[in-house]
Amino acid sequence: MSFDRRPFEARGLLVVPGFIDLHAHLREPGFEESETIATGARAALRGGFTTVCAMPNTEPAIDAPGLVAQVVARAASAAGARVLPIAAITRGRRGAELCDLVELAAAGAVAFSDDGAPVSDAGLFRHALEYSRIAGALIVEHPQDLSLSAKGVMHEGSVSAELGLAGMPAAAEEAAVARDLALVKLAGARLHLTHLSTAGSVELVRRAKAEGVAVTCDVTPHHLSLTDEWVAGSRTFAWERAERNRAMPYDANTKVNPPLRSRADVRALWAGIADGTVDAIATDHAPHASIRKEVEFDQAAFGISGLETALPLVLGGVRAGWASWDAVLAALTTGPARVLGVPPPKDDWIVIDADAEWTLDGEALISKGKNTPLLGAKLTGRVVEVAVDGDLKLNEGHAAEAVGAR
Ligand code: DOR
Repeated sequence: MSFDRRPFEARGLLVVPGFIDLHAHLREPGFEESETIATGARAALRGGFTTVCAMPNTEPAIDAPGLVAQVVARAASAAGARVLPIAAITRGRRGAELCDLVELAAAGAVAFSDDGAPVSDAGLFRHALEYSRIAGALIVEHPQDLSLSAKGVMHEGSVSAELGLAGMPAAAEEAAVARDLALVKLAGARLHLTHLSTAGSVELVRRAKAEGVAVTCDVTPHHLSLTDEWVAGSRTFAWERAERNRAMPYDANTKVNPPLRSRADVRALWAGIADGTVDAIATDHAPHASIRKEVEFDQAAFGISGLETALPLVLGGVRAGWASWDAVLAALTTGPARVLGVPPPKDDWIVIDADAEWTLDGEALISKGKNTPLLGAKLTGRVVEVAVDGDLKLNEGHAAEAVGAR
């Protein structure tokens, strides 16, 4: 099937191009108890992602050509999605000294990010952008003003006040987005902002794009579907009216950075998808070993394991009429390909059963990261077949080898 043909329906199933994830944490090297490139690449397939970009906040951080080459080699032997390495912007992700982006790109890095943290020093970030322009590199920024988010562990609002948890105001993200947009104009460069979570951030990007600024952005499936009420125990998706399935409050699986926001923010992210302000949906798949999550909310690591639940989450918003399937599909395929500046792989395709109902069982997740607040949730929509480069890799949810395909 050629990539640019429109999706068609077959026996009630959808055949569409493989999804491209601009943002996932595969944890190798250094945190193999949480994920490996091999398990992450297989979890990606399970979610319909045939290409996944691996973030460099590993130990050591991916800040040298040899480390990029190591990720490339591991990815080649992983029987899963295509894995593309993102390298760090600064050495050790410490925000003090720029990496050699040209060398890292030559080793195979497709983009640069200190994700998990912003590049807080504005002067240094300006230089990173200038250098990226010369090197033809894509900078992916995690916009967060750390002086504003401070010790926050969830969205700052009435729910954080009720729970007595320190909040991260929307302004912590928006102040950083505004700074980044000013710097990208100054540097005459191009910038990708990842995991935008607030209405104000989307509006800033909308205006910047209208002015002709070379900025792109992505949002995550969890920010498109869950609200800060989930930290207080709600299990109601943003598009649902009646409250249901109340869980215990302070579930550390709802702790993520940027935090789950208000329903108005969720609506604004969807409006951004609908009008093209948002270029891509990226998972920010952040698997963590249970030891880092089964602790007090304040102490728990930030992150949601997201590769295997992205599709049902985004289909929920489509069903609610918050954006069209065409717009969502573009944000999972052609949008991220455009951000990366590569043509979408021609022979990657997936088959979706959009009406399949299933209950999320942590043990059934391929990812080592069982940290999702969706455990036990009833979800609708499932990937049933996946082919990468024309090779069937997954069939009805089973690895293709297991069913005798090649
Ligand atoms: O929730 C998050 N987890 N946000 C980030 O920015 C980093 C990520 C991680 O690496 O666990």
